[in-house]
Amino acid sequence: MSMFRKKTLKDLSAEPSGMKKDLKTIDLIMLGIGAIVGTGIFVVTGVAAKKDAGPALSLSFLVAAGAIILAGLCYAEFASRIPVIGGPYAYMYVVFGEFVAWMTGWLVICEFFLAVSSVASGWSGYVHGFLNSLNVHLPKALSGAYNPENGTYVDLIAMIVLLAVMFWVSLEAKTALRLNNVMVFVKFGIIALFLVVGIFYVKPDNWQPFMPFGFSGVVSGAAVVFFAFLGFDAVSMTAEEVKNPQKDIPKGIIGSILIAAVLYVIVTLVLTGIVPFESLGVKDPVAFAMRFVERDGVAGVISVGAILTLLTVTISMMYSLARIIYAISKDGLLPKFMSKIDEKNRTPKNATYVAGICTMLFAGLVPMELLAELTNIVTLMYLIVMAIGIIRLRKTDGDPKPGEFKIPFVPLLPILLVIVSIALMLQLQAATWKAFVIALVLGVIIYFTYGYKHSNERETKA
Ligand code: ALA
Repeated sequence: MSMFRKKTLKDLSAEPSGMKKDLKTIDLIMLGIGAIVGTGIFVVTGVAAKKDAGPALSLSFLVAAGAIILAGLCYAEFASRIPVIGGPYAYMYVVFGEFVAWMTGWLVICEFFLAVSSVASGWSGYVHGFLNSLNVHLPKALSGAYNPENGTYVDLIAMIVLLAVMFWVSLEAKTALRLNNVMVFVKFGIIALFLVVGIFYVKPDNWQPFMPFGFSGVVSGAAVVFFAFLGFDAVSMTAEEVKNPQKDIPKGIIGSILIAAVLYVIVTLVLTGIVPFESLGVKDPVAFAMRFVERDGVAGVISVGAILTLLTVTISMMYSLARIIYAISKDGLLPKFMSKIDEKNRTPKNATYVAGICTMLFAGLVPMELLAELTNIVTLMYLIVMAIGIIRLRKTDGDPKPGEFKIPFVPLLPILLVIVSIALMLQLQAATWKAFVIALVLGVIIYFTYGYKHSNERETKA
């Protein structure tokens, strides 16, 4: 049946791309850290410590990191064997054929645009706090997601920041990433500042009891802070702009995950060592901890740094979102105008505009909590498909060739990824599951009303 038509590795390597190939491993690790370290650690940590895991939130980060490292290994093998743009979407085209590829691509599109929207919305919360401290107040109607009962209709600041990011990203890839690289250093700087100052205020008593909500609290915390690792997949979307994708992409993915995991565990330990976890349910926990010990100056620097660096997450993820939309449209599964490469800057400009406008709408209208949980569930779902994909790829195409990345212990590790992902998905709320089912149905409808008829593969392999 033609909905299962596949691409072969030969088809993929013959497809030309108009993009520049000038990114190296270090650019990829910067892109990865730029996309990964953000709202998760600067915003989500506080509430997760208070409500889910207590001081054991560092263990939640380890559980989430375990799942992400397994996913990163699967990614690395795929990215090394199928080094083309499009990430999981392109990999699934080879392994399972068009329908699964589209659904996976659709979930990745959902992941990125929900993540960009939630980060912009969290960012807007920080900026509102900052403006309020200067006594500047926006009209209430323009200060939050659509919620007429509460008097808010649209989050204007979140929309404006995404408009600005959209223009940045539609410029030359290097230009957008250069700003990103500077911000990554700011990010490391404020985390280092927090650790160097904070370590002196740690009271081991605050770590008692370490697991106030038991191991189940650790797991539900992991399902929430999983968000903090998203963005690692941004790296694989750059395949057509990377000098040596087979080596650089696996290094970029695993490198950025490991760096983030180490930072998160240390930051959470210090954070819960400074502030009793019951008091951490705030929007800016890292800065709050400094205020808690009366280091207001340090808290101010951390707040401004966080405002700046949350931008890097939106830049890196918008960059990748545009590229996956570009790749899917190039294959005819989304309208063709989205795969046009801008002649002057050689970037997928139209795809970037589509990404920008969709994220603006969601960030402006939907509350952050729903956006963040939804981001997690769609991601966990496609990680399951990826894990099964590795097992299948080994059956159909055998082991990787020398020089390609090989995930050890197949099928054990991919099966473990499936189990952990399902366990984390089961922790999420009913409302998140409902929205998830709607997203899946929407994906199926788009495929059968558009993609199925317009796919490039239609004439050749139907
Ligand atoms: N990992 C990204 C963040 O925490 C989405 O902001």
